[in-house]
Parts: sequence; structure tokens; C-alpha cells
Amino acid sequence: MEVLGATPTRNLALELARVTEAAAMMAGRFMGRGDKEGADQAAVNAMRLILSTVDMSGVIVIGEGEKDRAPMLYNGEKVGNGSKPDVDVAVDPIDGTRPLAYGRSNSLATVALAPRGTMFDPGPFLYMNKIAVGPEAHGKINIEKSITENLNAIAKAKGKTVEDLTTIVLDRPRHDDMIAEIRKAGARIRQIPDGDVAAALMTAMPDSGVDVLIGIGGTPEGVLAACALRAMGGEIQGKLFARDDDELRRGREAGYDFDKVLTMSDLVSSEDVFFAATGITDGELLKGVRYYGNRITTDTLVVRGLTGTVRQINATHTVDKLDNLSSVHY
Ligand code: FBP
Repeated sequence: MEVLGATPTRNLALELARVTEAAAMMAGRFMGRGDKEGADQAAVNAMRLILSTVDMSGVIVIGEGEKDRAPMLYNGEKVGNGSKPDVDVAVDPIDGTRPLAYGRSNSLATVALAPRGTMFDPGPFLYMNKIAVGPEAHGKINIEKSITENLNAIAKAKGKTVEDLTTIVLDRPRHDDMIAEIRKAGARIRQIPDGDVAAALMTAMPDSGVDVLIGIGGTPEGVLAACALRAMGGEIQGKLFARDDDELRRGREAGYDFDKVLTMSDLVSSEDVFFAATGITDGELLKGVRYYGNRITTDTLVVRGLTGTVRQINATHTVDKLDNLSSVHY
């Protein structure tokens, strides 16, 4: 295994924190302004600028944009300053564009890195069925089994009853049957309007009160969550989800198997992953950006796979000093 941060020991996730902080500080200005594309453009610009300073030769494998016709950090785009290591890069400049645009909670900026060739490339296939848990239930989930069977296995692994479990599910009509089954099994449900990267991470945070994420969400978000959960000792499994027969046919023609279980190793095959996320609007996982005239504060989660270290970084940024150094104004 190529070890990205080995000699000298280098935690690229700390550099990624600068990337997501910059994206969050720029995007946070758009809170409640109803301008999804403007927010995305601002976050992408900031992310691209700071990514260009990171010591790496990165290729974007997971970009987001096509789905929203958003300005892209597009798949195949080269990022970094061109030095070693060679890495795959996954970005979601804003996970939760809608909540940000309408002033709601739980939007964040996120980036992950892994050695070149180790991240799953979903191509244009945007949706994935997912199940994600924290470390205590690692090895106990199976997306091929029923929800009830999974809930029983998770409850057993966590020394709880199914009634004690809290599931988290995106609030979408496509989940109606799934929600009916969770209710029948007796588990509690939190339906969230958006943001299943944060939801997946919450399953691995000891005091979040969330035990399992279930349901269909974005594929890019699935790969990003896999990078974080791999580092945090949790687990995610997925299956690509085709919205209609045409998508299924196009996927099959392109060599994608919609029946294949994507294990965490399929989603990111190296343990040498780095992940960072900064809150844009307030959420349970991360505080949002605060603006105080010449000061801006951010809250960032930074995770490194090789060591399993999870850091929370509360930063204070000084606007006039940044103005002297940077081509963007925060
Ligand atoms: P974006 O803000 O990046 O578009 O994603 C928000 C989100 O809620 C993701 O967290 C989730 O995976 C996906 O959208 C679900 O897609 P959809 O809103 O189309 O159901």
C-alpha cells in the first residue's frame, strides 16, 4: 500500500481543513439568499483556489455539479500543486445547497483524498441505496438483507433493543415503504430534509444519538461518507440506484452493475484516507460559519484514516489579513 502521509509523516487532512473552511466561509455569505447557484459558485471558487496550494497531484473522481447544473469541480479536473502524492479527490463544496439557500440547518463543505485509483468512480449515476453505521455495528450490516434484519443485528451489536435505535432517513417519497418497515420493526426515525453526509458521520459520533442511516441518497455523498467512516471505524454499504429503465440501461451499457453490493472497500479501497468537513449553516455535527466584522469563525471535522484520529477544529479567521494574501474576499 502506498502511504500518502508517511515520509515525513504528514496529515493532509489538516490541509483539507483549509479547503473546506474557505468554501464554507464563502458559501456562508449566501445563507437564506435563495441563490443555490451563486452559493455553489462561491464555494467552488474558494475550494479550487485552496486546493491548488495543497502538496499533491489530485484528480477529481467525485465532483458534484451535473445534478444541479452547478459550476463544477468537474470529474477529471486536476487539482493540487502538482507535487507528490498522487491522489483521488472527492469534493462536495456544499452538501445541503437547498438548506443553505433557504437558511436551514445542516449544510456543510466537504473534501476527501485517497491514493490514486482507490476511490469508486460512479460515472454519471447519481443515486445510491445506502446503509451506514458506527464502529459498534461494523461488520453486522448487510444491505442485501431486510431492514428489519439489519435493525435487529445493529441493536444486538449495540446492546440495545430495536425500539432504542434511532434511524436517520432522507425525507423523500421514495422512502415511504422503507419508513413503513422501520416503523413496523419498532425503531425510532429521524427524517431529514437534506444532508446525508452529515447523517452518515453522525452514526459514528458517540453522542449523536443516531444509530443508522438508511435510504437512497447521492452517490458522491456515499463515497465521501465512505472515506470518513473508513477512518472512523464505521461501515457503509451501497448499491447504485437507477431512477428509471433508461438509466438502468445506460448504466449497464457503461459496465455498471446495479445489483452489486458496494462494500466500504469498493467505495474506497485504501485505509490511507483523509477527510474534512466544515459547517456552513448550524447543524448537529458542526456549527455554522459566524461573521463578526473582521473575524470569521468556523467549525471543522478532520479525519485521518491511517491513525483514526478525529479532530474538531474551531478556527478564527482574520479578514483583513486574509485579504492581503488571498485573491478572494471572505
Ligand atoms: P446537494 O446539496 O449536494 O445537492 O445534496 C443534498 C442532498 O440532500 C444529499 O445530502 C443527498 O445525498 C442528496 O441531496 C439526495 O438527493 P435528492 O435531494 O435528489 O433526493
